[in-house]
Amino acid sequence: MTASSPAPAGASHSESERSPFARLNELLAPYQPGRPMITLAVGEPQHPLPDFVGPVLAQHIADFGRYPAAKGIEPFRKAAAAWLARRFALPRPIDPEHEILVLNGSREGLFFAAHAALRHAGPRRGTPAILMPNPFYPVYGVGARTAGCEQVYLPTTRDNGFLPDLDAIDEATLARTIAFYIATPANPQGSVASADYMRRLKRLADHWGFLIFSDECYSEIYTREAPGSMLEQAGPDYSNVVAFQSLSKRSNVPGMRIGFAAGDRKFLAAFHELRNVAAPQVPVPLQHVAVAAYADEAHVEENRRLYRAKFDLADQILGNRYGYKRPDGGFCVWLDVADRGGDEEVALRLYRDAGVRVVPGSYLARPQADGFNPGVGYIRLALVADAQSTGEALHRLVETLG
Ligand SMILES: Cc1ncc(COP(=O)(O)O)c(C=O)c1O
Repeated sequence: MTASSPAPAGASHSESERSPFARLNELLAPYQPGRPMITLAVGEPQHPLPDFVGPVLAQHIADFGRYPAAKGIEPFRKAAAAWLARRFALPRPIDPEHEILVLNGSREGLFFAAHAALRHAGPRRGTPAILMPNPFYPVYGVGARTAGCEQVYLPTTRDNGFLPDLDAIDEATLARTIAFYIATPANPQGSVASADYMRRLKRLADHWGFLIFSDECYSEIYTREAPGSMLEQAGPDYSNVVAFQSLSKRSNVPGMRIGFAAGDRKFLAAFHELRNVAAPQVPVPLQHVAVAAYADEAHVEENRRLYRAKFDLADQILGNRYGYKRPDGGFCVWLDVADRGGDEEVALRLYRDAGVRVVPGSYLARPQADGFNPGVGYIRLALVADAQSTGEALHRLVETLG
């Protein structure tokens, strides 16, 4: 399967670009849940907030009285750089002055990055292209389109281990490429790029002169081996590599809206310029909470323990039905329900008959040029609720689908 561009320009504000959750609401709106509802749809962590959040916030409450600087306070940038150095085998420490920017959650960063990439990139013959896996986190596509770039979808399927096939991208596309989004661990499939895969991607980026936007917001959610970072394979100058991190999943604070981008300093300088006028800043008290969060691994380990227990349940209850495989990272389960009626049909049935809300895979992906939508036939479950509800939902799913 090869890379492909989307429908012609103008068709890109299509149904498939809308929020998957808005589409799911519409699909389910005419019906009532058949049993007390359990939602496995939105990937919003439900585990407890770390207990230092309130006290640290209270201590720094007066800082709500100041506009925050776009770059982030120095203690935040130092804490994030120190955490990266402890967590990953970096080629050298990240410079907190020039190689880190605070983000209002990784989502807005991933969006604005496409716009900054266009400002940063040298001239290209033809329309600049931004590559992304398919299925993918929707902001990559909207970021690329609103930046005026062509979105090139790289199908991720069971055959390629749910990671884009780097050998399938043609040279004409690579010559126009200014950026490549990769998610590792991936949402929805939980696949993790190996060091070798990352090195190959970095070689391609250096050869063709594009940026790698490595979405690593799930890096701390895993049940066996800790996933690596693209920064580890970026060489001593971190050129062409930008990693996006977030506390939403690591520390169960999705409402706090805090993350960071780290890597290529030339790009980050251009990114900072754009962000200085356009991007949402991060309130200073929240940056202090993040400093405390990056200094503490105990709550992260507890978090992983809770996810591990739920994946143990999934192993027992799902077994090898629906092509289930425990993911290498993240908290999503990607199930093949093509032979149970397909993704939309199954999402409807689970809601109407079992009161379980899941996302149809086709809503998370786009049709390739040949019409193939790599999400069709799959459903995504986010194991974010407590263990009891998760187990109950999985039992109902098996009862309903057989
Ligand atoms: C793959 C992926 N990237 C980025 C995000 C954004 O997370 P946040 O903006 O909370 O950091 C999410 C959230 O669900 C995600 O699934």
